[in-house]
Amino acid sequence: MNVLVLGSGGREHAMAWKIRQSPLADQVFVAPGNGGTSEVAINLNVDLTSLFSIKSILLNNEIDLLVVGPEDPLVNGLVNDLIADDDFKKLKIIGPERLGAQLEGSKEFSKRFMEKYKIPTAGAKVFDEVSFPDGLKYLDELEPPYVLKADGLAGGKGVIITEDVEEAKDALDEIINQNKFGDSGSKVLIEEFLTGIEVSFFILTDGKSYRLLPEAKDYKRIGENDEGLNTGGMGAISPVKFADRIFKEKVHERIIKPTIAGLKKEKIPYTGFLFFGLINVSGEPYIIEYNVRLGDPETQAILPRIKTDFLELLVNTAEGNLIDTDIEYERYSAATVVCVSEGYPETYETGVEIVEGKPNGVLTFHAGSKVDEGTLVTNGGRVLAVTGLGKNLGEAISKGIRAAEQVRYKGKYFRSDIGLDLTELGQ
Ligand SMILES: Nc1ncnc2c1ncn2[C@@H]1O[C@H](COP(=O)(O)OP(=O)(O)O)[C@@H](O)[C@H]1O
Ligand SMILES: [Mg+2]
Repeated sequence: MNVLVLGSGGREHAMAWKIRQSPLADQVFVAPGNGGTSEVAINLNVDLTSLFSIKSILLNNEIDLLVVGPEDPLVNGLVNDLIADDDFKKLKIIGPERLGAQLEGSKEFSKRFMEKYKIPTAGAKVFDEVSFPDGLKYLDELEPPYVLKADGLAGGKGVIITEDVEEAKDALDEIINQNKFGDSGSKVLIEEFLTGIEVSFFILTDGKSYRLLPEAKDYKRIGENDEGLNTGGMGAISPVKFADRIFKEKVHERIIKPTIAGLKKEKIPYTGFLFFGLINVSGEPYIIEYNVRLGDPETQAILPRIKTDFLELLVNTAEGNLIDTDIEYERYSAATVVCVSEGYPETYETGVEIVEGKPNGVLTFHAGSKVDEGTLVTNGGRVLAVTGLGKNLGEAISKGIRAAEQVRYKGKYFRSDIGLDLTELGQ
């Protein structure tokens, strides 16, 4: 079967790599892809904001299965548009329709859903232009730290956490009244602050059954010890030790099952990945957000830990047959280290030659890279990720770090403390 993965990040590289290994795969395409995806798949030009462009490449390449990598096309209703078109009656699609994608596309929608189905989460109130003065008063009543979230998609920049009430008020004003995030910020959630360690859970679901994928912890800040600016993600590890059998059981019972039941109850069809951003508060899981796709760079750490034929899993999901599908994991641990451009997440140079982009003994997944007249060059802030695999987390981390050291391009930076907080190495 012919498969198309939409997107251009390390997540899409990892998915294409995994799909390529399946005996069910004929041609594997990534659109638009990057300088690394062309090693495991065929890159196709596409304008991800154009339905016409996406439909053209689906038809021209006789695609049987479409995997939508990023959230924007899902939130914008790509899947609805395809389902409504007779040309795509037989197309299998991994990714929810617009309504299901609202679990990520609107933080108000997802918070109401969590509350309705009694899924443990941080309490929150929503404010808009009209209730803005009440929002200011509400902030005065709260204890710090203050958590403010723009309602809509904001590319990971829509959450402000501060100890300073004046800063919180300014942020509320900027988002609601000065349109800092455009329409995404016309409403703001002010949320209770939860204290604990974060962990990400992922499922594949056909809307009826689900299968749990390996869990992961990601590292968002640019600096070691989680200091400095937020980034798209500097690394990830899997498995996460504190997510033990008892914790997982709680996640299944209190979070995942009520979510699937809620989707059914609301008659929200859902086919694809669902990502649960959780906080472990003294052993109790709380959900802070849903994402309607896999995470980046978590995907680069979790997919190598899946033993089951990944394409078969996707096909069974798209066909609604997950109930008859088992999922097996590999025993080893994975640590993903992201190499970025100097200056990221602020300004950085692109077009820098990548002299060594494929270190030994690890998996390499590209993101901000491209081939320019035969030369591999940087093309973004997050350039590439290496995933070390080992019999335990410590070994996986050592391999990942050693490989990141071998990667060579001018201005390379990576965090050498990925996962160390969770291993004996970090003590
Ligand atoms: N209620 C909360 N308590 C403590 N930290 C939070 C809370 N909500 C979010 N955060 C922190 O902010 C980050 C971003 O919030 P999240 O809801 O995941 O939004 P997004 O990923 O869309 O930016 C989280 O990963 C977490 O570190
Ligand atoms: Mg998040």
